[in-house]
Amino acid sequence: MTNAGLEGVVVADTQISDVDGERGKLVIAGADVEQLAVATSFEGAVRQVLAAGGAAGAGPAGPITPAAIGAARAAAWELVPRLGDALDHPDGMDALRTALGHVRVPAGGPTDPAAAITAIGAAPVFVAAWSRRRAGQPPVAPDPALGHAADYLRMTLGRAAGDGAVRALDAYLVTVIDHAMCASTFTARVIASTASDLISAIVGAVGALKGPLHGGAPGPVLDMLDAIGAPAHAETWLTGELAAGRRIMGMGHRVYRVRDPRAAVLETAVRPLLSPRLELARAVEAAAAKILRDNKPDRPLAANVEFYTAVLLDAVGLPREQFAPTFAVSRIAGWSAHVIEQHRTGRLIRPASRYTGAMP
Ligand code: COA
Repeated sequence: MTNAGLEGVVVADTQISDVDGERGKLVIAGADVEQLAVATSFEGAVRQVLAAGGAAGAGPAGPITPAAIGAARAAAWELVPRLGDALDHPDGMDALRTALGHVRVPAGGPTDPAAAITAIGAAPVFVAAWSRRRAGQPPVAPDPALGHAADYLRMTLGRAAGDGAVRALDAYLVTVIDHAMCASTFTARVIASTASDLISAIVGAVGALKGPLHGGAPGPVLDMLDAIGAPAHAETWLTGELAAGRRIMGMGHRVYRVRDPRAAVLETAVRPLLSPRLELARAVEAAAAKILRDNKPDRPLAANVEFYTAVLLDAVGLPREQFAPTFAVSRIAGWSAHVIEQHRTGRLIRPASRYTGAMP
């Protein structure tokens, strides 16, 4: 029997994160996501996931610090003039994977976090430069003294962002930093399992994250909210989508059989920003859940992380084309942790296929 989606197949022991799809629980580096999102900055979460993956010297006094990540942003800025037409890609994920291919990481052992820090620092610089090029504006240099979330917003918007927006974006970056064996992480681990390098693994993972069944959904969620416009139109619009054979973006999940816990974390994080879209999003979620329950009574389909990602990233001022690349700006830390763990503990991942073609 072929298991084309590999559901339930365990391909790694990991200490980085755990998803309990039945109870709707997500644990990252030993902490509940709800707690991590309010207790630490992105840089703190980076240290924790890299430590969980087995990075050398990743204790609180080790090399994974906000200053080191800031220095990595500054180093990536030097590359921006040399990215050629990488930043001209109309799609931000294509731009990011091409730009990341220009990054040279320090040679180190398989558990040295230096390469990961270099890549984590590069991503927001490249994404912000791409976003500004798209808007016909010059890129903005990083400020290594700022926090990662604050600097990413500043490099994108061209001005210092408000505290509320920075806090919300920081909570988002922490919340999506890792999510067990999702498709992009599996991709990164497959590449790492051949004893390949970190940047190759990350570039492959960006490609996997790009698809709308994985990280490409939040832009379309915002398109959906715009198309619906007002709570009263939700039911008719959503029913029309299902009748046309289309999926409701931001709903459903391969692993969760209840609401994705990250949806609640992001819904809480965006509340102080008083986004006019929040009330509409809640109404659309409720209508979508009801319609999907009626249509697919055997398949629990609830909101996933992308639903409120769309509302939050919009509220902090990012354009919707930048949503999927912003997911990558965070998840690059989780991928790096998994690459380190794979190098430490894994073996070549090489499954089998069933031949159904002609025989000689
Ligand atoms: N809208 C409508 N129907 C949906 C749906 C959605 N968002 N998600 C799943 N379904 C339906 C499928 O059509 C399928 O119906 P069928 O058995 O009649 O064909 C059934 O529910 C099971 O779906 P399945 O494709 O097995 O789920 P999956 O585990 O492969 O897919 C997702 C998970 C996330 C890819 C899927 O729910 C989806 O496409 N969601 C929308 C995109 C999205 O939000 N992506 C971000 C994920 S974090």
